[in-house]
Amino acid sequence: MKYQVVYISNTGNTEKIAKKVFEVLPGQDKDIVRFEPGVRIADADIYFIGFWIKRGTCSMDLLDFISELHDKKIVLFGTCGMGTHKEYYKELEDEITAWIADDSECLGTFICQGKMPMEVRNKYENMLGSGNDDKVEKMLQYFDSALTHPDKQDLENVAAFIKKII
Ligand SMILES: Cc1cc2nc3c(=O)[nH]c(=O)nc-3n(C[C@H](O)[C@H](O)[C@H](O)COP(=O)(O)O)c2cc1C
Repeated sequence: MKYQVVYISNTGNTEKIAKKVFEVLPGQDKDIVRFEPGVRIADADIYFIGFWIKRGTCSMDLLDFISELHDKKIVLFGTCGMGTHKEYYKELEDEITAWIADDSECLGTFICQGKMPMEVRNKYENMLGSGNDDKVEKMLQYFDSALTHPDKQDLENVAAFIKKII
């Protein structure tokens, strides 16, 4: 069984998860690559594809890559800043899995929080007082709760998730 981990990561959160995924995959027939357009990605039986969420979805280039995988097994993992609600994670999962070709199969999706750059908090703070304070306070709470993620528990959770799938 050949495993290929492919991920995008802007500030390193998804990369941490990707490295843990790679570490727990059994055997030697495995590879890990940071995705960028044009990068060579080897053929594999199972693709472990990592993304980070930007404005409700992920990089279009990565979605194109996902949609072009035929007759493959795919495992998704990702990080996002907003919340820990199952419903929100399910929305994100649906957003990404919609791109999987009909002849490929998604074996599962793992999502956890990932800290955001401080400029994001500054932006939220500047939005206070503009009539949407309840919403902005919630976003600030999400920002603060994400600050420690991905943490040790997230790494243990993704390791358990991968072992269960394998
Ligand atoms: C410009 C920008 C847009 C973002 N949009 C969202 C979003 O729509 N939903 C969300 O939950 N998180 C959002 N985030 C938070 C990131 O998804 C989160 O910090 C993620 O862990 C970053 O992963 P990385 O470190 O691998 O790049 C956004 C972050 C940035 C910088």
